[in-house]
Amino acid sequence: MQIIRSIKKIQSLTRQLASDGKRIGLVPTMGFLHDGHLSLIKRALKDCDIVITTIFVNPTQFSQGEDLSKYPRDEKGDIQKIKSAGGTIVFIPKVSDIYPDDFDSSVEVLSLTQTLEGESRPTHFDGVTTIVAKLFNMTRPDIVVFGLKDYQQAMVLKKMSTDLNYPIKFIIAPTVREKDGLAMSSRNKYFNEAERQEALCLSYALKTAKQMVKADIKDCKLIQKEMKAVIKATCKTAKIDYIAFTDFNSLAPTKVVVKNTICSLAVRLHNVRLIDNLKLM
Ligand code: PAF
Repeated sequence: MQIIRSIKKIQSLTRQLASDGKRIGLVPTMGFLHDGHLSLIKRALKDCDIVITTIFVNPTQFSQGEDLSKYPRDEKGDIQKIKSAGGTIVFIPKVSDIYPDDFDSSVEVLSLTQTLEGESRPTHFDGVTTIVAKLFNMTRPDIVVFGLKDYQQAMVLKKMSTDLNYPIKFIIAPTVREKDGLAMSSRNKYFNEAERQEALCLSYALKTAKQMVKADIKDCKLIQKEMKAVIKATCKTAKIDYIAFTDFNSLAPTKVVVKNTICSLAVRLHNVRLIDNLKLM
């Protein structure tokens, strides 16, 4: 496995690999990898000769008040994990190379970023689309894999890629969960055992929503009310940012669960903000 830190090197290497006819897969990450990330690498390996995993804690996607300096990091551990998952290249650029002092550009997706995460974290998606466009330009992948847990992010990036004519196939891989249902996230490491139990409020609420739909209750207001009750019963101090019901592709809100409705939620508990989602039909 190759570890590359220079933008020039990754550009010349990927150009060479492409001209040798190799199919390149990309898995962008901010490091502190868990099994969810490794499942993305394994998914990319199914379709590609080369899988590039990027590790870059992107400062521009942290909104004001979100503590970038506290974001968990473990470069050595990450490199080991990528190697054991079968990754072929790790690209770890420096912040000063990605954003030199005179950096003055931004890539923006207009509509899909106005709801859900975009409402709670106004500048977040501009940071995400800008860094991912830059990573696309540096690595020129044939395929990119993102996780369904960050579902809105995946849809925003897919739109950016289509609108800007990147010839890249998007794969959205399923959310990987702990045995008890907690969606894997680098942020779970902030919890002690008792807090972690309370973090299950998100997956419990989503399970409740799914059960209600199975029982033919499709009114989103009714479902939302039950979900709020489940969250409060599991974690008294939880603060719900949003519980939203939208169309999977357009992100348009819906009042009734129909085919392709996805429920997304964001909850703050014990100073950590978690997101999760589940397709209800
Ligand atoms: O999902 C993430 O870890 C980040 O938002 C991404 C896509 C790597 C961009 O920094």
